[in-house]
Amino acid sequence: MTTRSLFLLPGDGIGTETMAEVRKIIAWMNEAQGAGFVTDEGLVGGSAYDAHGVAISEGDMKKALAADAVLFGAVGGPKWDNVPYDVRPEAGLLRLRKDLALFANLRPAICYPALADASSLKPELVQGLDILIVRELTGGVYFGEPKQITDLGNGQKRAVDTQVYDTFEIERIAAVAFELARTRRNAVCSMEKRNVMKSGVLWNEVVTATHKDRYADVQLSHMLADAGGMQLVRQPKQFDVIVTDNLFGDMLSDIAAMLTGSLGMLPSASLGAPDPVTGKRKAMYEPVHGSAPDIAGEGIANPIAMIASFAMCLRYSFNMVAEADRLEQAIANVLEKGIRTGDIMAPGCRKVGTTEMGDTILAEFKALS
Ligand code: NAI
Ligand code: MG
Repeated sequence: MTTRSLFLLPGDGIGTETMAEVRKIIAWMNEAQGAGFVTDEGLVGGSAYDAHGVAISEGDMKKALAADAVLFGAVGGPKWDNVPYDVRPEAGLLRLRKDLALFANLRPAICYPALADASSLKPELVQGLDILIVRELTGGVYFGEPKQITDLGNGQKRAVDTQVYDTFEIERIAAVAFELARTRRNAVCSMEKRNVMKSGVLWNEVVTATHKDRYADVQLSHMLADAGGMQLVRQPKQFDVIVTDNLFGDMLSDIAAMLTGSLGMLPSASLGAPDPVTGKRKAMYEPVHGSAPDIAGEGIANPIAMIASFAMCLRYSFNMVAEADRLEQAIANVLEKGIRTGDIMAPGCRKVGTTEMGDTILAEFKALS
């Protein structure tokens, strides 16, 4: 039997509540379908800090590195606001991304038909929307050196962040975008700011060359990132795959996500380079939202973002495409039936908590399987 190893890091706050719903789906897939998932579980963020005084322990880092895929819940919260910078909850997430070398962050923005009315845009602009934002995740201004605040000694301080990109970093993220586009509508739009940034000039050059060399069959367009932001809210359906750097990707993916409604709905995947021998990519799957301290412990968090992240895991780490499609369909069907958590509640719908939403999606998934 195939074994598929999953390392679960629920984290803090609603992370533990939403991960519980994914655990049920994994258990059922093992029981009923012989899926062969072998799961282990660790601590990250505030839960790791409380237990060990770190953002993630070395033991758990080893397990994350060894697993086929990591499922991550959420971390953070006011309880840890004053812990030292190096061990704050978010440091656990950054460490995982860096050590697993997860350079490609995939953020889908899809519109579930039942939620088109809930968008901040007119329903006809988002009905059927299906965009994938591919954000470079391990380079750029979040990591570039120097990165410092210096005291100028005259009552002034100077803050420096540095945007750095090398050719190979741009080439590999472009390749991910082109390959994903081939499984979709075959179009990539690359976004940078070559008009004011040297890194934008190189980005444009390398994406163009990668396209010409290896992916000429894919349709490629370029947009300045600020114009891209405008186009995303003006005519979002013009895009298939968008590829961009770490900083612009952070913002543009949040903009794209909000076209389709609640933070509680949004999954993400982060992928590393394929292993030269096995071809397997390191990968981590996580909802876009945080630990939602304002509702944590109340049993009302929407588990869909976490469940949809697991669907991405099935698709990208295990090539279980049919299962991923069915799980996503199960989510759509449950929404269609008017079953909603508080964050996506609408008139005439039935309000449920985290557990009931998870159970209903699992029941629908079983019915479709
Ligand atoms: P947040 O995403 O935790 O919450 C923002 C708002 O959306 C809150 O009102 C929350 O109740 C609501 N919300 C989020 N997810 C929801 C869900 N699944 N169901 C229903 N409602 C949901 O962002 P916030 O409040 O800015 O940050 C809280 C903590 O989380 C902070 O410590 C922050 O640093 C951390 N954070 C962690 C992330 C991660 O673990 N990847 C990402 C973003 C923030
Ligand atoms: Mg962000």
